[in-house]
This record gives sequence, structure tokens and C-alpha cells, in this order.
Amino acid sequence: MTAESNTDARIETLAMRLPSDFLWGAATASYQIEGAASEDGRGESIWDRFSRTPGKVRDGDTGDVACDHYHRMPEDVALMKELGLGAYRFSVAWPRVIPDGTGQVNAAGLDWYERLVDTLLAAGIQPWATLYHWDLPQALQDRGGWASAETVDSFARYADVVARRLGDRVAGWITHNEPWVAAFVGHYQGRHAPGITDLGTAVTAAHHILLSHGRAVPALRAATPSVPVGITLNLNTVRSASSDPRDQAAARRDDGYLNRWFLDAIFGRGYPADMLEAFGDMMPAIGSNDLAEIAAPIDFLGVNNYFPSYVRAVERGPGRELGIEHLREAELAARGFEITEMGWPVAPDAFGELLVRVGRDYQPAAIYVTENGCAFADTVEDGAVHDPRRTAYLAGHIAALSGAIEAGSPVRGYFVWSLFDNFEWGHGYSKRFGVVYVDYQTQARIVKDSGRWYQELLEAHRARR
Ligand code: FCB
Repeated sequence: MTAESNTDARIETLAMRLPSDFLWGAATASYQIEGAASEDGRGESIWDRFSRTPGKVRDGDTGDVACDHYHRMPEDVALMKELGLGAYRFSVAWPRVIPDGTGQVNAAGLDWYERLVDTLLAAGIQPWATLYHWDLPQALQDRGGWASAETVDSFARYADVVARRLGDRVAGWITHNEPWVAAFVGHYQGRHAPGITDLGTAVTAAHHILLSHGRAVPALRAATPSVPVGITLNLNTVRSASSDPRDQAAARRDDGYLNRWFLDAIFGRGYPADMLEAFGDMMPAIGSNDLAEIAAPIDFLGVNNYFPSYVRAVERGPGRELGIEHLREAELAARGFEITEMGWPVAPDAFGELLVRVGRDYQPAAIYVTENGCAFADTVEDGAVHDPRRTAYLAGHIAALSGAIEAGSPVRGYFVWSLFDNFEWGHGYSKRFGVVYVDYQTQARIVKDSGRWYQELLEAHRARR
């Protein structure tokens, strides 16, 4: 068999394994692709501020221009149609809609998202909107940001404003993208905006983000009763680096920190006891109704996953308050893992395991994989981008997902991260996650081989219906 017919066989097999109504999409986020940072009344976001702070983002990159999607949206949607996407997950930039976070609504900002939604619908693509993918209005940060309880109600109002305008046309609402990252990478590790490095502040931010989700859910339902509502969590399968009981305990703690803290709260179990103990006096005051609000019933859980975590115990100290250390690239490579440009191990089995576990332990009504993908150092050769490792990654992960469905996990859709190469946060433009290559000098888009593979998979899946 030739390599090509091998790939074809894989596509046919995969397409046959997925349920006929399975939803295929691609995902992006506002700050990572839109550019037009100061157009049409958009206010400053914490990422504008953070990316301008020397030393925070690689090469001093910012999202000022990014993929210039704000100006190229119609062509970009045409490309999505060419790829055969059934759905597109984008995020709404809060500072475009309410520039200072709480005050006046900026009509031009809402108009732009309305045009996006209408253009998607005209192309036969379902619009899935995330309300918060990390670009908080800077004016809110100046008053405490997610560490302040005030931001909770500001978010619920923002959700209501967006829902009233777009709710008759969107196919799904995602309140938040990855609260763990927003809270802990932004307020403990300090690698993301707003760049704070204090665990207590991070735990408070995590609570307020969850509470704002819980308060936005009824607002969204009231405005748009028929649109499914969910939240996207970044979840990992966590494995112990060894059979040493201390490492096993550290892995359990990491699972509590990353996964159970959010899952337990959202699915009505409150915060896990072991983590309440681990956070100790860093826990903020919890209002008597907070946990009930956070557990507002949702229609689906969004799962973002890229890799599993391998964990060992370390002595506690500043920056290591939880006594957890993650194995790094070299150690993971030594264990035989293929490693992506992000230093992340490729392990589709851990992805399948995660989907089965979440389905079994929390019984969500539905799961959508709202992000999955990989960065490689892609280059253009004669106008093409050959990225066989990305194709293999996607094929492996989609096969694992099919296995999870066969094992009973209620996975209903998959959004590849990302449609485009884009601004990868602290890494600037140095990491390419797209199935479409972006030449940042010319803004030319080149569909990578993996993008064509995805297109063929989607075609094959449509043909079997
Ligand atoms: C996720 C983010 C997304 C992108 C990918 C690589 O954590 O949600 O914006 O950066 O990682």
C-alpha cells in the first residue's frame, strides 16, 4: 500500500466510526486572530497591556494586527466553508462590546460580531460563541479584575448584552474558556495577563470566574432559552511520574488542582475537600449561595485537551506551594513520547481516557471537544505546508475520541485548535497551531496538508450520512 492510500483508508475508517450527526469545527479566539486593536471603539484589554509590558511576550509580539481577521472575516469564512466546517468556535472580545467593562455598550463592536454570525450562517456554518477567552477590559483589571467580586456581575451583564443581540442566531454559548488558565496562569504563574504571581489571588480569581459562569447561565437562558449553554475547561489525564506514594499523592493533588476543582464545583459537588485543605487559608470567603450558583445546570461540557501531565512531588516553597512538579520535555522524550513545539507529549490514549473518565464520573449531558491540536515548526515549500506530524496527531486523537464514544462517553463534536496560526499568548507568533498557515508579512493563508486532510475527513463523514 502506498502512503497515500494508507491515509485514505484511515480517513474512511475514522469517518465510519463517528456517529452520523457528529459536529466538526475549528476554534479561534478574539485576541489571537482579530487585530484591529483600537478600531471601532474597542477598549483596551489586559492582553494589550500585558503584551506591551517588556519581557512578557516573546519578541515583544502583540495582538495589534494578528491575523487581521477583523478586516478579512468574509474571506476567512469562505475558507471555512471550503474546508467543510460544520461549526466555528470564536470568542467575543468583551472590550469591543463594553469598552470599559461596565458602562456603555459599543454598537460597532456588537455589529461586527453580528456580521460574523450572519456570514457564518450564510455559509452553512454553526456559530459557537465563547464569551470570555481571556481579554478582560483593562478598566476592570484596574479595579481588581477577577480578584474583585464586582467583575462577576459585570460579566453577567455583558453575557446578557451579547445574548440579546446574537442569541437568536448562535448555535451554542460557552461562558468561559479554561478558567484554570485564566486564574492560575494569569494570577499565580504570572505567565499570562494580568501577570500576577500570588496563589491566594489566583484561587480568588478562580472562584469569581466560576461564579460569573454560574450567574451568566441564567442570563443566557433567559435571553435565549433554546440555545445550549456550557463552559470549556482545560482538563488533562494526570499520571504519577513513578510508583513512589509521594509522587502518586502529588498526581492526585494536580488532578484536584486542574480537573476536580472545576468539575466538582460545576457538577454540583462543591469544591473537593482535599483541595480546600491544600489551599487552606488562601481560600476566599465563599458566599452561602455561591456553590449553588456555580452548579447551574449546563447543556454540555466543553473539553480542551492537548497532552497528559506527568507529575512528581517536590518540596514546597515559593512558587511551589502545592508541592507539584511537572516532568519537562527532556524527561518525557526519554520516556519515548513524541514532543511538539510546545514541549508537550503526544499521547492520544490519555485523551481517550480523559473523555471516558469525564463522561463516567460527571455524567454531562454532552461533551464537545472545544480545542485539540498541536504546534509544529511549519514552513512553506513551493506554496505548500507539509505537516505530516500534525495530520498524525489529529488522526490519532480523533481515533481515540471515537474509542471514547464507543466506550460510552457522550462526545458530540470536535473543534480543532486552531483554524489559523495565531498569537499564541506568551509565545507570541512563534508557535503555529493552525491547520491553515498564516504568512504574517502578507496575511496570505495557506491551507496546510493537515487542513486538507481534515477537509477530506469531513467530506468522507458527510458522504456516509
Ligand atoms: C489553550 C487556549 C488557546 C490556545 C491553545 C494552544 O490553552 O485556550 O487559546 O492558546 O491553548
